[in-house]
Amino acid sequence: MKDFTIKKRFLSKEEIKEVANIHHEYLNTSFLSQLGAGFLFYLYASINECNETELIIAKSDGHVIGFVTGAESLKPIYIHLLKKYFFQASFKLIPHFFSFSKLKKITEVLLYSKNEAQQSNAKHHPKAELLSIAIKKEYQGSGAAQELFHQFAMQFMLKGHSDFKIIVGSELEAAKRFYTKMGAIEIDKINIHKEEESFVLKVIIDSV
Ligand SMILES: CC(C)(COP(=O)(O)OP(=O)(O)OC[C@H]1O[C@@H](n2cnc3c(N)ncnc32)[C@H](O)[C@@H]1OP(=O)(O)O)[C@@H](O)C(=O)NCCC(=O)NCCS
Repeated sequence: MKDFTIKKRFLSKEEIKEVANIHHEYLNTSFLSQLGAGFLFYLYASINECNETELIIAKSDGHVIGFVTGAESLKPIYIHLLKKYFFQASFKLIPHFFSFSKLKKITEVLLYSKNEAQQSNAKHHPKAELLSIAIKKEYQGSGAAQELFHQFAMQFMLKGHSDFKIIVGSELEAAKRFYTKMGAIEIDKINIHKEEESFVLKVIIDSV
């Protein structure tokens, strides 16, 4: 088993860069990945600086080997991104402004909270959400993801939440199995992007 340490909040610029690179490489089916590691850097910098978010990393040999992130609401992240990094983030998005399908998806991602809230059973979904978790390949199976997941649940419990949701695309079967192993139960199916189905999973923090 490989050794790792856990760090919460106030990440350095270098650590945020490593988180963005891990997201880009290991969550490559997510739409946000298609916007590039440069854009992801500003997204994670915003997550790192917002009070309504969690960003926890695992480190080994001085480098980030994995992370978990989540939020009580996505709106403060996008507001912070627009207020603090508007020009830098927009510059990274310029190549995508020429693609209608990407512009459409960017809009869908920005409207995601609203779209989810409009789905039939949304009022039964927990408000707090685990957005992503990823571990570098050479460290998978080391227990780092499980530790990050537990630390994440603890942080949300300290903020007064009794549960949180995870929305996982139907193509991410292995991820869904991991979440189920962590105690998540499927409570709903929704369509964030019109053509793609996602599962809504719920984690009751007491059961973690
Ligand atoms: C999902 C992911 C984070 C799991 O990381 P990991 O390092 O393998 O997880 P851990 O070593 O901490 O495993 C914790 C437990 O979950 C189990 N587990 C991990 N992946 C599993 C899977 N795909 N199916 C079933 N169980 C799984 C492990 O066996 C372990 O259980 P055990 O202690 O009883 O053996 C990792 O595979 C990953 O980064 N995948 C790519 C990114 C991704 O898809 N993220 C999720 C979508 S946001």
